[in-house]
Amino acid sequence: MASAPDTSKSFKLERHGGYLLRRINSTKVIAASSHLLFRASILATVVLILLFTLHYPPLLLYHSGAAASSAAHSNHRSLLSSAVTYGGAAWEREVRRSATPRSPSGLTVLVTGAAGFVGTHCSLALKKRGDGVVGLDNFNSYYNPSLKRARQSLLSRHGVLVLDADINDTPLLTKLFDVVPFSHVLHLAAQAGVRYAMRNPQSYVASNVAGLVALFEIAAKHADPQPAVVWASSSSVYGLNTATPFSELHRTDRPASLYAATKKAGEAIAHTYNHIYGLSITGLRFFTVYGPWGRPDMAYFSFTNDIISGKPITLFRMQDGAAVQRDFTYIDDVVKGCLGALDTAKPSTGSGSKKRGPAQLRVYNLGNTSPVPVAKMVGILEELLGKKAKKNVVTLPQNGDVPYTHANVSLAEKDFGYRPTTDLATGLKKFVKWYVEYYGVKTGNNVHSKMKKMEEKEAEEEASA
Ligand SMILES: NC(=O)c1ccc[n+]([C@@H]2O[C@H](COP(=O)([O-])OP(=O)(O)OC[C@H]3O[C@@H](n4cnc5c(N)ncnc54)[C@H](O)[C@@H]3O)[C@@H](O)[C@H]2O)c1
Ligand SMILES: *[C@@H]1O[C@H](CO)[C@@H](O)[C@H](O)[C@H]1NC(C)=O
Repeated sequence: MASAPDTSKSFKLERHGGYLLRRINSTKVIAASSHLLFRASILATVVLILLFTLHYPPLLLYHSGAAASSAAHSNHRSLLSSAVTYGGAAWEREVRRSATPRSPSGLTVLVTGAAGFVGTHCSLALKKRGDGVVGLDNFNSYYNPSLKRARQSLLSRHGVLVLDADINDTPLLTKLFDVVPFSHVLHLAAQAGVRYAMRNPQSYVASNVAGLVALFEIAAKHADPQPAVVWASSSSVYGLNTATPFSELHRTDRPASLYAATKKAGEAIAHTYNHIYGLSITGLRFFTVYGPWGRPDMAYFSFTNDIISGKPITLFRMQDGAAVQRDFTYIDDVVKGCLGALDTAKPSTGSGSKKRGPAQLRVYNLGNTSPVPVAKMVGILEELLGKKAKKNVVTLPQNGDVPYTHANVSLAEKDFGYRPTTDLATGLKKFVKWYVEYYGVKTGNNVHSKMKKMEEKEAEEEASA
């Protein structure tokens, strides 16, 4: 309430009144009139607080998680407006149409974060093979929402509906699960990005912790049948682990960023919902996913922007001069991993069903198994774009980034045949092809860019991921 402009104005008035009061008292002139002014300012404060409270009663109707989450993103529509767009007969018809699989044996999947990078590709792949898919996304402005809207249109052309909703919107999710008996949830909605956590920590708590709990609550207690949940954790949970390649058996108790800590918290929360409510839960630790329709905040994407527009890029090296490396994983490989995890997920068992044994709880690495120095990634981009990057090389600051990632994926290979097949040069070629078409950019010697100002600005935000 203190942030409301009206009340703060009245506090200022009150302070001003107090100042006047002291000054006038010291000169011992017209004490009575200053007394009146003081009383008037107190009265004004009370009236303004009252008006403010009366003006915002809807806040009281929603639980704090949703309020916190929507407050985290200023452009996000209020939950009040999303509340009036769902629930009608036309809405239900649209939802059912999108959710119905082509054949009775198909899955019925709720994809959260469906207008995101990974969510779009997974939704398309599921729909194309005949599964029913309903997407959900809050279209927040962490990066340019117009890219999210473009992905939504792409999905819409393929018959996938993406609802404008926050995972913390429990009334909407409750309604959604009443309309559709989802067999699976592919939960990809999250606040992503490592460095942004230093600027907006609460957005990570709202989406990755409170939002995860809100989703598990519905899946565990309301959904009938309980769906099997597959969700995105992150390679960042390995944090300061130095044993390589990263195996699911390694320590994950030393996160290097708040982002990593919220993903690690998610894995602990998953354990609880599996243990108490018999939810079938699979966590997937993605390793630096890249490709067409990717995330503008990630290094390969923002470097592409900067190389084209001639802006210098910043590369990091370790204190000892060692190169920063990433196990870059192409989106199509990650999609195969997500579908493999969905297909091998056992049904949830519900609580108190000891006879059927404990519900399934799994964690898998989904990486590429071959780390590449970030500088080499830049070299590939330079070649594809026909233009040299202006490079600044600095020592990696303590910003949450880790020096090295490398996945051991033998567990995912054993359990659902996960085997990455795209190397970085092949994958980046496909990314650049998409980029050039999407932004209408010419590459080669006379590079010019038709990119909108907004895209350039957003790319500056996070130089690497
Ligand atoms: N891309 C990677 O390299 C990578 C690596 C490790 C983990 N992950 C995880 O994979 C998942 C997908 O990542 P991505 O790269 O597609 O990111 P993304 O940001 O493109 O997609 C996430 C989507 O979720 C939406 N969203 C965020 N908070 C929400 C909320 N509270 N309610 C509803 N929607 C919300 C966003 O609008 C966005 O469209 C995330 O959980 C991310 O943390 C990604
Ligand atoms: C990869 O992980 C598996 C366990 O999932 C382990 O048996 C194997 O030894 C690991 N491989 C390497 C090269 O560390």
